[in-house]
Amino acid sequence: MTTCSAPGKVYLFGEHAVVYGEPAVPCAVERRARVTVEPREDGRVRVDAADLSLDGFTVTWGGSIDDRPDIDAPAPLVEAAMEYIEAAVRQAREAADRPDAGFDITVESAIPLGAGLGSSAAVVVAGIDAATRALGTELDPEEVARRAYEAEYEVQEGQASRADTFCSAMGGAVRVEGDDTRTIDAPPLPFVVGYDGGAGDTGELVAGVRALREEHAFAADTVETVGDLTREGERLLADADPEREPGDELLADLGELMNFNHGLLEALGVSARSLDAMVWAARDAGAAGAKLTGAGGGGCIVALDPTDETQHALGYTAECEQSFRAELATEGVRVEA
Ligand code: MEV
Repeated sequence: MTTCSAPGKVYLFGEHAVVYGEPAVPCAVERRARVTVEPREDGRVRVDAADLSLDGFTVTWGGSIDDRPDIDAPAPLVEAAMEYIEAAVRQAREAADRPDAGFDITVESAIPLGAGLGSSAAVVVAGIDAATRALGTELDPEEVARRAYEAEYEVQEGQASRADTFCSAMGGAVRVEGDDTRTIDAPPLPFVVGYDGGAGDTGELVAGVRALREEHAFAADTVETVGDLTREGERLLADADPEREPGDELLADLGELMNFNHGLLEALGVSARSLDAMVWAARDAGAAGAKLTGAGGGGCIVALDPTDETQHALGYTAECEQSFRAELATEGVRVEA
């Protein structure tokens, strides 16, 4: 039996724009998906995904990939998760050169599904690592990231960037621009996450931005502007001391860019009332900046605040189901004891 885990992530800057070759800076956070794999003799794959979400949104499901039973609500989310797991299985079989390998797979995750915290990337990354190791093949994290990207790309029908999967496999803060992926030394940023209890459909949201971008030159410019502010944010991070808590000035500068980034995502049609309400609650509470994270449509916002004020204020915000502080996860995919 082999268990691997991989972290979720928040986007400091650049989601959606990264799909069109602009840079993005996602940061891995300490909310992990754990995948346990046991090879089977009969070549079948059985998945037990008893908890694929945070409290209040728990999905219980157990079944076989080869023989899917009817799934109770919220079926679309679980169905989507199963597609990611299937794609991960295909990658693991190929990497280990065992096309007929069967597995019993157990998925446990503290990352809400479809909420902008990289749940699918974390499950795919941990799943590929665990399944290949269970077959006696060890991949380095870069290769796990590459294969996880292939899996996401397949499920999202060619509309995925390398950002989520690379970040989850490598951990820490990363920079992704097209095929160029690297880790960066970032200071320990004081992330606070607000979660509305809902989810967005990444494929639909990415397709919406694509359509807008094709229809209007100003939407294409908006995507490019997200790239510009991301480059500005990267310069701020590069000048910062990665060993020290960021000072007020750095937080204010990063926060200003996050606010700008949220405004542009809103203009691109991927925000939601609940996300905007949480963003404003965070700003009113004194956060240096706040924005939605991930594909949008519902799910999570991320704010920068070293104090407890933002988390406290989100706790009283009707649209916020849960708020928590998210530590930077310096470790990416790893084997669990
Ligand atoms: C989704 O977490 C992030 C998007 O930029 C899509 C992607 O990068 O694949 C919206």
